[in-house]
Amino acid sequence: MNHQLYDFGMIGLGVMGRNFLLNVADDGFAALGTDINEDSVKALNEEGEGMNVKGVGTQKEFVSLLSKPRKIMLLVPAGKIVDKVIEGLLPLLDKDDIIIDGGNSHYDDTNRRYEYLKTKNIRFLGTGVSGGAEGARRGPSIMPGGDKSAWDDVRSILETVAAKVDGDPCVTYIGESSSGHYVKMVHNGIEYGLMQLIAEAYDVLKRVGGKSNAEIGNLFTKWNEGRLNSFLMEISAEIMKQPDDKKSGDLIDAILDKAKQKGTGKWTSQTSMDLGVPVPTIDSAVAMRGISSFKPFREQLSETFTIPHKGEVTIKGEGLENDVEAALYFSFIVCYAQGMHLLAEASEELKYDLDLEGIARIWRGGCIIRATLLEQIRKAYSADSGLKNMLGNEQFAGSLQSTRNAAAEVLRLSVERGVSTMCLSSALQYFDAMRSARLPLNLVQGQRDNFGSHTYERIDEAGTFHTEWGK
Ligand code: 6PG
Repeated sequence: MNHQLYDFGMIGLGVMGRNFLLNVADDGFAALGTDINEDSVKALNEEGEGMNVKGVGTQKEFVSLLSKPRKIMLLVPAGKIVDKVIEGLLPLLDKDDIIIDGGNSHYDDTNRRYEYLKTKNIRFLGTGVSGGAEGARRGPSIMPGGDKSAWDDVRSILETVAAKVDGDPCVTYIGESSSGHYVKMVHNGIEYGLMQLIAEAYDVLKRVGGKSNAEIGNLFTKWNEGRLNSFLMEISAEIMKQPDDKKSGDLIDAILDKAKQKGTGKWTSQTSMDLGVPVPTIDSAVAMRGISSFKPFREQLSETFTIPHKGEVTIKGEGLENDVEAALYFSFIVCYAQGMHLLAEASEELKYDLDLEGIARIWRGGCIIRATLLEQIRKAYSADSGLKNMLGNEQFAGSLQSTRNAAAEVLRLSVERGVSTMCLSSALQYFDAMRSARLPLNLVQGQRDNFGSHTYERIDEAGTFHTEWGK
């Protein structure tokens, strides 16, 4: 009989859960897993052969083999399953045991679970984990929020397991209640924006610049060595160069142009609307996934409408390449700026008390939006912890100023040719609106007062005013 007690438990042994647990075991902790799917338990025992890791078939055995206070992570699909697993666990647990929800749960659900588990004397950590299957195995970025004493107890394990940047672990305690899942959600919102921006760069290079997939892949590789250096740039280069494994040609040309979504991008847009913090580049990325899903309708309309070309059909030479690179850099900054601004406002509004420098620091490695830019973002928040929007940082202002016209040129070319670049456009429009001392919203105030007596303010006198318009 095996009486060994294990340091860390995982419920949900899909590829993410399995990989995370193997990573825990790699780092010298005794790791235990369970899953309702027998094959997943078997897969863990096979992959973990010779390591201090074990898969068991029942939750009862699983709980009995964990050292106290038990540290149990759930990597199961977000939603009702999380509640079901928690309910199943509760009768087996003791006071002060720890449950870590490592899935992409909605922050409202996390708040509810956090409060509920407090009443059961169970410590809860709603924890964002980013980096996909590979990240889980080699070192993810981890965003735990909730019970602070639980963090103190799991800290040594999570710090060892997390990705490292210059020896610094990509994990930090995010804050109370649902803050960890909120921050992970905004991470994913930024992820949606960056992915769509790179996709638009591909489209412009292909349809305006007439470039082949290989040429675009090579450009992406080159850009990845410069200021655009990022995980998403790196994998986009890889994707552009991948041959089709079913027939001749490039795989990218055989992939259907419809992207699915699990909801975190949409939630980012929803909360941004609730808090009144605009993130139009993220909204546009969510909208583009929606538009992509109407494939037959798009095909029908593509026969109906033709856009007259102005200018040359294809633009050759390095000019376009340089402009697209600069436009991408410009819009990357704007996309991160929108996400960070949302976090800055949510920190106050939802009382998360977020450390934005710390968040930028743990996003530098392991996660999907890791990029060289994040070190610069970290520095900006380190220099000014009160910074709300990166557009107000001198260094970023300089970068935006020097790339704005390239972004406008790429937008002009794509609009002329009817190539949709909604994310790039929203980034540029957001920037131009934010840097405008005067916007035409005085007319909107006039309209509101005209039809609804909603009143308006004046520039030369304090107070609110109403006019009997047209009289
Ligand atoms: C990560 C990813 C991960 C997942 C996305 C996919 O950080 O590791 O963001 O959480 O792959 O949720 O999201 P969509 O299915 O909505 O694109």
